[in-house]
Amino acid sequence: MDAIRWQGDSLALLDQTRLPVEEVWNDYTDYRAVAEAIRRLVVRGAPAIGVAAAYAVCLAALEFQTLEPRDFRAAMDKAARALAASRPTAVNLFWSLDRMKLTLSAAGGDAGAIPVLIREAEAIHREDIAMNRKIGRCGAELVPPGARILTHCNAGAIATGGYGTALGVVRAAHAAGHVEMVYCDETRPLLQGARLTAWELVKDGIPATLITDSMAASLMAQGKIDLIFLGCDRMARNGDFANKIGTYSLAVLANYHGIPFYTVLPSSTIDMSIPDGSHIVIEERAPEEVTHFAGVQTAPEGVLVHNPAFDVTPHRLLTGIVTEKGVIHPPFTERLAELFG
Ligand code: MRU
Repeated sequence: MDAIRWQGDSLALLDQTRLPVEEVWNDYTDYRAVAEAIRRLVVRGAPAIGVAAAYAVCLAALEFQTLEPRDFRAAMDKAARALAASRPTAVNLFWSLDRMKLTLSAAGGDAGAIPVLIREAEAIHREDIAMNRKIGRCGAELVPPGARILTHCNAGAIATGGYGTALGVVRAAHAAGHVEMVYCDETRPLLQGARLTAWELVKDGIPATLITDSMAASLMAQGKIDLIFLGCDRMARNGDFANKIGTYSLAVLANYHGIPFYTVLPSSTIDMSIPDGSHIVIEERAPEEVTHFAGVQTAPEGVLVHNPAFDVTPHRLLTGIVTEKGVIHPPFTERLAELFG
């Protein structure tokens, strides 16, 4: 299962806004359209945004290849700025753009670098899948037989280069025969849990039960959740992390009920440049995402709306962090510095 395909001189993206009803792939040859696709959540999920942006840099290079070297360089800088402005929270976007910029400079900074840029974007994509597979193996060791797992939003194959982070753990644990049930929060307001996570799980034959976000607490109180695995958009060097809005509430609930709570992420999601979660920019999205449901107005004209796409969970609510280098337990600042500093 995948959502991003490089086709030599164009990029194909599975349109995630149309799932689960339609599986439509869009072709892109213009980096501006890819930036717009990221903004509109045609492609979404921190690692997937990073991979798509890397390929968008290749599209820009192909478009500008006939320019004089100085103009080529200026046009490439402008393209990178436009892509960086698409969404602010997931650090993978900036990590990937920085990696592509360094690659371009090291390869001479002109159009001769195009094959090297394409190889680098493909490497970013391939490495992400490989990291997810390792993450899956590490995380699966935490899952006892008969586990009932709760997840939020979509940290699956289509949110990454392929396979998934939190759903990578679920996939590996399911292959080991340890998953009794995966509860998917629907994830208001854009329903990534209902539209995307439930779709991935049903497609893979993994037992899945959809709940609304507000049902999680009562399931926990009834002892029906054994573990929580969810994704991450940016982790600070002390372990505080941003993820889909609603993650923080789940962390508080898990803490209250004594349920192990793990975030699952590749190293490309760790931002060692910021000391804690207060430095993470949280994306505020359009009010219509809250005032309308499936295109139908559900709130009165004139009401004020607060619509942050993410929240920040303090590291002290985390049981552990599942990465491609293993599962990290507190003290997070020291352990993250040892492994990723
Ligand atoms: O707004 P989205 O759908 O891009 O939000 C995605 C999430 O919050 C995911 O949990 C996160 O990016 C990790 S994806 C492996």
